[in-house]
Amino acid sequence: MKTRITELFGIEHPIIQGGMHHVGLAEMAAAVANAGGLGIITGLTQRTPDDLANEIARCRTMTDKPIGVNLTFLPGFVEPDYPGYIKAIIEGGIKVVETAGRSPEKYMPSLKEAGISVIHKCTSVRHSLKAERIGCDAVSVDGFECGGHPGEDDIPNLILLPRVAEELKIPYVASGGIGNSQQLVAALALGADGINMGTRFIATQEAPVHMNVKEAIVNASELDTRLIMRSLRNTERVLNNSAVEKIVEIEESKGEGMSIDDIAELVGGVYPRIMKEGDLEAGPWSCGMVAGLIHDIPTCKELIDRIMSEAQDSIQNRLASFI
Ligand SMILES: Cc1cc2nc3c(=O)[nH]c(=O)nc-3n(C[C@H](O)[C@H](O)[C@H](O)COP(=O)(O)O)c2cc1C
Repeated sequence: MKTRITELFGIEHPIIQGGMHHVGLAEMAAAVANAGGLGIITGLTQRTPDDLANEIARCRTMTDKPIGVNLTFLPGFVEPDYPGYIKAIIEGGIKVVETAGRSPEKYMPSLKEAGISVIHKCTSVRHSLKAERIGCDAVSVDGFECGGHPGEDDIPNLILLPRVAEELKIPYVASGGIGNSQQLVAALALGADGINMGTRFIATQEAPVHMNVKEAIVNASELDTRLIMRSLRNTERVLNNSAVEKIVEIEESKGEGMSIDDIAELVGGVYPRIMKEGDLEAGPWSCGMVAGLIHDIPTCKELIDRIMSEAQDSIQNRLASFI
């Protein structure tokens, strides 16, 4: 399939694996890249720019296909060494950066000078337009369904994608809630030039996470995610567990007066325990409603091949038969 996204990133299929903390390691990105999609290494999972340089080099031993790096601009007290990470990205020969969180405006000149394409993750029309204005090459439109941070507007993709289509000129991919071929076809119909998936890629053979995490996603339904940290305007969609229930209880009792300190112990530094050790109750971890559509743990190639062949069949046969 040829779209503006496959052309822009030099990939075979219009499918991106979004950056995921403690999931987007070299193994994940390489598996997606080798299957013809765009695999993305999560920059900030690497503790230092040197670690990121090593992870990029490690990934390069596993694939010669294009890979990207995610840079998440967090609202934090201690700012990570973003210039250092960008230097590692440039020196590692990376040609695609997925940015997320705050606007990447400050870093656009250095990325563009290095010939890097930037795809910024946005949860609203206004943020998508801003991304276009500051020179991003594409946008990843994350609807309310998404795992991770859906923003504060709560607009699902059935509305958000065609709204973005009305206003944006640069290409965009549909992100959030996507896991199968029908949804790829729907996303294309809604104006997107491809899809970005997070949760679906965790439940694959190559995802470098504990089997407990993959099985939890397969066993979850679309009813099993919850939103936390809304009162901090840092809403996150996570799989429900005992830690999440405690956080929700604290949020309900403290209301708008809640501060990050009230839940810091429950949310801080839990990802390695969950993703590596498989301790699913260690804390909240991002997971999308799409869990309800995930029923197996295929290889990335099986998953991508299945999505692409079914999508082609659906466009050529099912949809064409209506006209
Ligand atoms: C476990 C997990 C960790 C994530 N970590 C990040 C991250 O560090 N940076 C980021 O930009 N997005 C992150 N995301 C969001 C994904 O890149 C992607 O936008 C999202 O998962 C899409 O929604 P879906 O899960 O419904 O496919 C994460 C998602 C998950 C499920």
